[in-house]
Amino acid sequence: MADRPNSSVPYDARTQTALASSDVQHLIHGYTHLAQHRKSGPRIITRGEGIYVIDSRGRRYIEAAAGMWCASLGFSEEALVEAAVRQFRELPYYHTLASQSVEPSIRLAEKLSGMVPIPDSHVYLTLSGSEANDFLVKFLWYYNNAIGRPKKKKVISRINGYHGATVVGSSLTGIEGNHVGFDVPLPGFLHTWDPHYTRYRLEGESEGEFVDRILGDLEKMILDEGPHTIMAFMAEPVTGGGGVVIAPRGYYAKLQALLSKYDILFLADEIVTGFGRTGNMFGCETVEIRPAAMTLGKALSAAYQPIAAIVLRGDIHEAMVRAGEQRASFGHGNTHSGNPVGAAVALKTLQLMHERGILAHVRRVSSTFLRRLKSLEEHPLVAETRGVGLMAAVQLRLGGNVDAAGVKLCAEEEGVIVRALQGGSGIALSPPLIITEAETNDMFDRLAAALTRAAARTP
Ligand SMILES: Cc1ncc(COP(=O)(O)O)c(C=O)c1O
Repeated sequence: MADRPNSSVPYDARTQTALASSDVQHLIHGYTHLAQHRKSGPRIITRGEGIYVIDSRGRRYIEAAAGMWCASLGFSEEALVEAAVRQFRELPYYHTLASQSVEPSIRLAEKLSGMVPIPDSHVYLTLSGSEANDFLVKFLWYYNNAIGRPKKKKVISRINGYHGATVVGSSLTGIEGNHVGFDVPLPGFLHTWDPHYTRYRLEGESEGEFVDRILGDLEKMILDEGPHTIMAFMAEPVTGGGGVVIAPRGYYAKLQALLSKYDILFLADEIVTGFGRTGNMFGCETVEIRPAAMTLGKALSAAYQPIAAIVLRGDIHEAMVRAGEQRASFGHGNTHSGNPVGAAVALKTLQLMHERGILAHVRRVSSTFLRRLKSLEEHPLVAETRGVGLMAAVQLRLGGNVDAAGVKLCAEEEGVIVRALQGGSGIALSPPLIITEAETNDMFDRLAAALTRAAARTP
């Protein structure tokens, strides 16, 4: 059972009811069944403590999704609060347009350039992952115009990949539920196979044959469209919300070779996988890819401030500089690019990761995490599990009477918040990276109990 009301947060039913009804009347929620929300209202989270969050009724949950894959250092890290407050006092805002600059953003760009597997990289700071992916495509259109390839503009991404909610972000996204009713994807955004072997393999097909078939189909797509029209390929090194998909061995090496053959830029969306989630600083290191550009977000600031980043290879940046020489200025900018508070918090996050050995910690705890994950396969509701580092999916048996929403609800009754995978076929786990072994064991004990609870409710 979830721990019962915490004495320091008295439950005031009247205030809660008034707040919930105000929410329903005034606040629009993303990725929510809007009509259902009117009836059920919100869960209001009021406090955080380490890997736990506490709701307005005093119920305490292990946040096994780290919010949205992002609260990597938990929900009560004083050093990050102090970094924000210090920066708020010194300079709460200034911009980086028209050659203005601020120290935290300069230092953050330098720091990121030294960390990423991209030579001579340059950094553009934004506020959200969606914005980063959107601007990245826009920058590359500018780049291809600059280098005399005005027709090479299409982008291929993968079915079940998630890349954000802006018009371009949702066009890159390969999830039908993100397209229906929204007039996206835009023309010029194409989707190829998800490298999810156990889901998409043909009868009797080996992993190697699967990889060759899906990459063969990708090559056919490139040839049918005309290689001179395909600018870039975007992928998450390990798919996050679309299923925690870990591509079969050999997939990325062959994919990179195919993309170079047709001079197509490899773009790594590291918004979930960046900063330790897969057990390395970046997912690109885990799956061994060398992208032309990366997008970063979420754990960049441990989610304490909205900040994201685009990292561009040096020659791409150089071409953009040269293209602008005859123009008044680079015709792109946004009010909060390089916001000093976000940058200061991101810098402090990276410092804490280093000082506290978070990568080594993730690798240590990951062995318990993956062992306990695997043991969930013994449960009759579970078809398979997948995991790397501290991210995982628990895939439910198809055709059963229990869906992800049912398991999610039972997990909450056991005091654990999980994410339902896109399409409701399972649940995702991505706890704060600071989770201890004891907390990991507690989380899996509760998840096992939740599965048993869900099975008992099956008619
Ligand atoms: C892989 C990936 N890319 C991009 C995004 C979009 O980021 P944001 O929600 O910050 O706009 C997300 C968000 O979940 C994501 O998981």
